[in-house]
Amino acid sequence: AKPVIIDCDPGHDDAIALLLALGSNEIDVKGITTVAGNQTGDKTINNALRVLSYLDIEKEVAQGATKPLVRELITAAAVHGESGLEGPKLPDPAFLKSEKSAIESMNEIITNSKEKVTLIPTGPLTNIANLFLSYPEIKDHIEEIVLMGGACFGGNWTPAAEFNILVDPEAADIVFRSGLPITMCGLDVTHKAQVFKDDTERIRSIGNKASKLVAELLDYFSIFHMNPNFGFDGPPLHDVCAVAYVLDPSIFIAKKHNVEIDMTGELTVGATVVDYYDNTGREKNVNVVFDLDREKFIDMLYNTLKYFN
Ligand code: BDR
Ligand code: CA
Repeated sequence: AKPVIIDCDPGHDDAIALLLALGSNEIDVKGITTVAGNQTGDKTINNALRVLSYLDIEKEVAQGATKPLVRELITAAAVHGESGLEGPKLPDPAFLKSEKSAIESMNEIITNSKEKVTLIPTGPLTNIANLFLSYPEIKDHIEEIVLMGGACFGGNWTPAAEFNILVDPEAADIVFRSGLPITMCGLDVTHKAQVFKDDTERIRSIGNKASKLVAELLDYFSIFHMNPNFGFDGPPLHDVCAVAYVLDPSIFIAKKHNVEIDMTGELTVGATVVDYYDNTGREKNVNVVFDLDREKFIDMLYNTLKYFN
């Protein structure tokens, strides 16, 4: 199984992404690290621990940055609620967070792994940037980064910027310039990864703890996204796309382009500027994901959830 680290800010879609990763035999979740984003750092780590405790899975979960590299934290309480994971009833954590920090934990896992490790960041990129700043030589042991963030066409938190990149553009800039292979699952694809009411009911009908949790997360996650401004038919499973891409890239359509991060624009800070027509001649540093087979994506989630107890 492919060794991966999930760096997340749970978050409804982060939690579902975690479940997909933990339930799959093709990837081995070597570590989970958390970052401030959807909610404060203390809330996102607590949410990760609560989800794992609910599933009776004990794993190393290490807390990372509580604020972006240089900016003040923006949270997404409007989407994920006060706790960052409103909706389902979850137990208090049954085990403690790691004594290591996120970057210590990542460094140790990556250095000790025989195979190169794939990073799956589904929150702001603060921890990954800090990892590269503190341990620059670690890059040699990383296979690739498959992240949720950014967009080629338009944002969700501002007209130009997607939330994860907007929260910490300086961190995103460090990651996008890292020289490592990067796959960007941005809004172009994630807005097509919607889950409809029928899908939620099919998932709920599996009847195990994992499927019940996912269905309840989706019930809450729908509220914000059914808002007429979006006009969605169901909530988009942003972060789940990044894990699904690692599991089966063949259900996605992607193309390499140059992508730069806007850190100064008055109207466009946090935008991932994609050279879609390749007219700058700059290095094609990012594999940009544009589309997916939605049915196969939902089936992947459904089939994986069936295998939980
Ligand atoms: C991203 O922002 C968060 O609210 C979600 O968890 C996802 O990672 C979508 O813009
Ligand atoms: Ca997230």
